[in-house]
Amino acid sequence: MTKYSQIFLGTAFSAKSPKEVSILKDHLFCINANGMIEQVVAPEDADYQTLLDAYQGQENFHRLTEGQYFLPGFIDLHVHAPQWAQSGTALDIPLSDWLNTYTFPLESKFSDVDFAQKVYQDVVSTLLANGTTTALYFATVHKEASILLAKICAEQGQRGLVGKVVMDHPENTPDYYRDRDTQTALADTEEFIVAVKELAKTSKQGVYPVVTPRFIPSCTDEALQGLGALAAKYDTHIQSHCSESDWAHGYVKDRFDKNDAFALHDFGLLSDKSVMAHCNFIDDADADLFANTGTAICHCPISNAYFANSVIPIAHLHAKEVEIGLGSDISGGFSPSLFDNARQAVISSRMLEDGVNTKLPAEERGVSNSRITINEAFYLATAGGGESLSLPIGRIEANYAWDVQIIDTTLASAKIPVFQTNEELGDVFQKIMYLARPENIREVWVQGERVHSRKS
Ligand code: GUN
Ligand code: FE
Repeated sequence: MTKYSQIFLGTAFSAKSPKEVSILKDHLFCINANGMIEQVVAPEDADYQTLLDAYQGQENFHRLTEGQYFLPGFIDLHVHAPQWAQSGTALDIPLSDWLNTYTFPLESKFSDVDFAQKVYQDVVSTLLANGTTTALYFATVHKEASILLAKICAEQGQRGLVGKVVMDHPENTPDYYRDRDTQTALADTEEFIVAVKELAKTSKQGVYPVVTPRFIPSCTDEALQGLGALAAKYDTHIQSHCSESDWAHGYVKDRFDKNDAFALHDFGLLSDKSVMAHCNFIDDADADLFANTGTAICHCPISNAYFANSVIPIAHLHAKEVEIGLGSDISGGFSPSLFDNARQAVISSRMLEDGVNTKLPAEERGVSNSRITINEAFYLATAGGGESLSLPIGRIEANYAWDVQIIDTTLASAKIPVFQTNEELGDVFQKIMYLARPENIREVWVQGERVHSRKS
């Protein structure tokens, strides 16, 4: 029989499709030395008992207790790691004022690597404690601190995809927070990519460099062109903000006479490893371009409510076969939890549904078929994120990484109301999605390694 590194026994929930959740009751999950799920065995399968007999009682056999469940680790597709230091503040002003008054001054402080160390250690451990096993991060313009963030992810065992932010446009960035010039921005990005690829060699779960023009307004044409070329040369992921607010979207239209999506494409910035945050104001032609290039959208529902005053039509975009994942957008979104963001994704989608604003004439009330279910929000936070990044993560299935969170529904201090012993597991799943708090997340595993556990 194959020798597994570890075997887990318990009930798991995993997205089967955007609308359907698989319930794997009392299954065995067999993990190999690389931290990948090699086999998922159901109680009725022939080798179930043989495996149980062989592994039960050994140190590498883990059985969940009554009321505990496996969920895939969450994949947060949009986190501004430095902004963790201001999460929960200054959410009452427009995006461009918020950037200039609060965010750029804060981010400029990350030239100090000691300060960066403190904030980055804390944001990575906080996200892990919230069940986020993979995060796609914006750092700052500073090369050293950005490399440090990748190093901290590697050390803490989180799968971090990290971008050194590029902002070289002299008119749209402040003097105190800008790349020195375009050549330096590109040279620093290249050195950053090489350094993170080197770090990746010794990291089991992987850390990845990401080409990161902050958004079109902050970058010159030369920088955008150069970044597209670097992404192709090193085959990296790419991230940016796309058509986020009326202001940002309108700026790009004035500068290029086209939408963000087509402008980014012209610079070689759309690929199957691209993730574009927000995308509130994309039209159907933009969506088709995303679907054809494999570019993913990161939905940031909490942030969008504050800065974009808008709800992106997720159901419509899924129907157009665009890949979509979920993002916290710390600190445009205040919460480090993708549970919170999944809940908001459902709530926001219902606000978009027709009939919501009864003061308007019927034909102006909203968009039919906009609602998404909690299953779809779960899909965005897990499998959708994995597909967006083109990585084998986000599902509890053979040939996926063992990236999971163990949820305990029995805690007195964080109640999830499961009273009946034979309660439908589909209902238990929904209760977890709506009510789980960090206290309920007892353990977090990434690539077969335990990276977080909590005693109280
Ligand atoms: N657009 C450009 N920079 C940012 C940022 O830091 N947060 C958000 N939400 N939008 C941006
Ligand atoms: Fe953002």
